[in-house]
Amino acid sequence: MKKINLYLTLIFLLFSGFLSAQNKVATVEVKENFWFKNSVIYNLEVGVFKDSDGDGRGDFNGLTQKLDYLKSLGIDAIWLAPFQPSPGMDDGYDVADFYGVDPKFGTVGDFSEFMYQAQKRGIRVIIDLVINHTSDQHPWFQNSRSAKDSKYRDWYVWSKERPKDWNVGMVFPGVQNEVWSLDAKTNEYYYHRFYKFQPDLNFSNPKVMQESQRIIGYWLNQGISGFRLDAVPFIIEVPKTGSEKPKLDFDFLMDIRQYAQSRKADVAILGEANVMPEENQNYFGKRGDGIQMMFNFYANQHLFYALATGDLKPFVKAIQDTKEIPNASQWAHFLRNHDEIDLGRLTEKQRNEVYKKFGPDTTMQLYQRGIRRRLAPMLSNNRKHLELAYSLLFSLPGAPVIRYGEELGMGDDLSLKERLSVRTPMQWTSDKNAGFTSADTAFRPVINKGEYGYQNLNVAKQFRDPASLLSWTTKLIKLRKTCPEIGLGDYTLLDSGSPDILAIRYDYEGQSVIVVHNFNTQPRQASIASEKSNTLYNLINENQDLKSDNGKFKISLEGYGYKWYRVDHIIR
Ligand code: NOJ
Repeated sequence: MKKINLYLTLIFLLFSGFLSAQNKVATVEVKENFWFKNSVIYNLEVGVFKDSDGDGRGDFNGLTQKLDYLKSLGIDAIWLAPFQPSPGMDDGYDVADFYGVDPKFGTVGDFSEFMYQAQKRGIRVIIDLVINHTSDQHPWFQNSRSAKDSKYRDWYVWSKERPKDWNVGMVFPGVQNEVWSLDAKTNEYYYHRFYKFQPDLNFSNPKVMQESQRIIGYWLNQGISGFRLDAVPFIIEVPKTGSEKPKLDFDFLMDIRQYAQSRKADVAILGEANVMPEENQNYFGKRGDGIQMMFNFYANQHLFYALATGDLKPFVKAIQDTKEIPNASQWAHFLRNHDEIDLGRLTEKQRNEVYKKFGPDTTMQLYQRGIRRRLAPMLSNNRKHLELAYSLLFSLPGAPVIRYGEELGMGDDLSLKERLSVRTPMQWTSDKNAGFTSADTAFRPVINKGEYGYQNLNVAKQFRDPASLLSWTTKLIKLRKTCPEIGLGDYTLLDSGSPDILAIRYDYEGQSVIVVHNFNTQPRQASIASEKSNTLYNLINENQDLKSDNGKFKISLEGYGYKWYRVDHIIR
């Protein structure tokens, strides 16, 4: 009997040892498997990228022609803004048919060819998934509003009376006046978090959920690698629990992820959720079983504060506060996107400081919380400041997302309405209309004067100039690719010995990278404990390797200077 017990104990010990060994291996392997952990993502809108047929508007064939350019830039994935049929009242974020391609951008065949050509070049594609609402022109809404007992009535959120909070919680304050609007046909109110022409879908109706799964399945079948999920906190609102502090259904995120993953194991859902750090876990899921990625809006706003004032503390805190995320999850970092910079999470005082520096004119501000400018004009086209900002973006803990034209330092057009200011056509050459279109007039004006005018600022010019921002960005992306520690590793904010210098160390599988950035206009010195290391290899300049000196690395940085080092081993 004793012998049997001994055997059983031995078998148990062996088996549990085997299991824990398996678990260990699994953690590392699983992390490596996630393509999005270390990808460089490029955000663009088909309509403003490249016109192939001379109608004045960009299209899928034009984008396909430019894939080699994107490949040469070194990006891993394209994030496509909405391209489905739409009246275009919110630049495509008002979808009228989830299963098609808007004819103004080409045919389904053109899309499919684009997908093939992107895949051939090893470039992944993620697309916007805008399911919080539809266009009011969508046949579902047309049917829903047609009669109180219509088939699709319950696909949207209706109220007989005007709710008390009808004018609370508008996403576009100053432009939008209400979140409940009267529909004259049935004399009831419908809910819309965004503009009036974007009625919210009712996710408490299982048919809406089923249809969303169909949409996800459909696009995954077209070969895409994931979705940028629009307006996440609003999709998960439990209808009619109030627009001020609605109840949120986080299970929705688990469900949608599970569904998408059942169709494509390595799918990425990148959520647009501008939330406080304590809420992150609800979105990523406690065990990383929610959405895989989120934009780090919290860090973004504090980064703008740091860039505007040189005061690093709130940004450092934001990075620390957003550190704890599940192993399988990832942040997406960005500087600019297609919307205004939302500064709503800063204190009023902080926000005013950013306004003062980057958006002093009220025409530069939007929705009582943000700035509708591109990065280069905000930083007064100061090359050093721009390099600091982008070097930082590419070395923050997560996956960097850049917006088309940022690699050139494109400008904005404040004469355009709301956020259209940062959505002007891509500047390819110094030919008429920036080589964007052969038409006499582009559907949206190309920037054609001043230091950001296409005559001087375009791809063709910068491509051939080794000192251009484009050449510099291409090099930086290449550098980032050799530092997988950043996307996969653990990170530590180091004591740099200077309040102006941010120093971050990344460790992954026995390899380490240290990046330092000086936010001050003046030269500064960092002093970093070298611990057991002897040498820091400068990854950008071979003449600037550093030896440990009395247990310290002493790093000199010029004003707005930055340095990337690998610890002890130059080659990974
Ligand atoms: C967020 C998008 O980024 C924005 O451009 C759009 O207007 C709203 N969601 C509504 O879809």
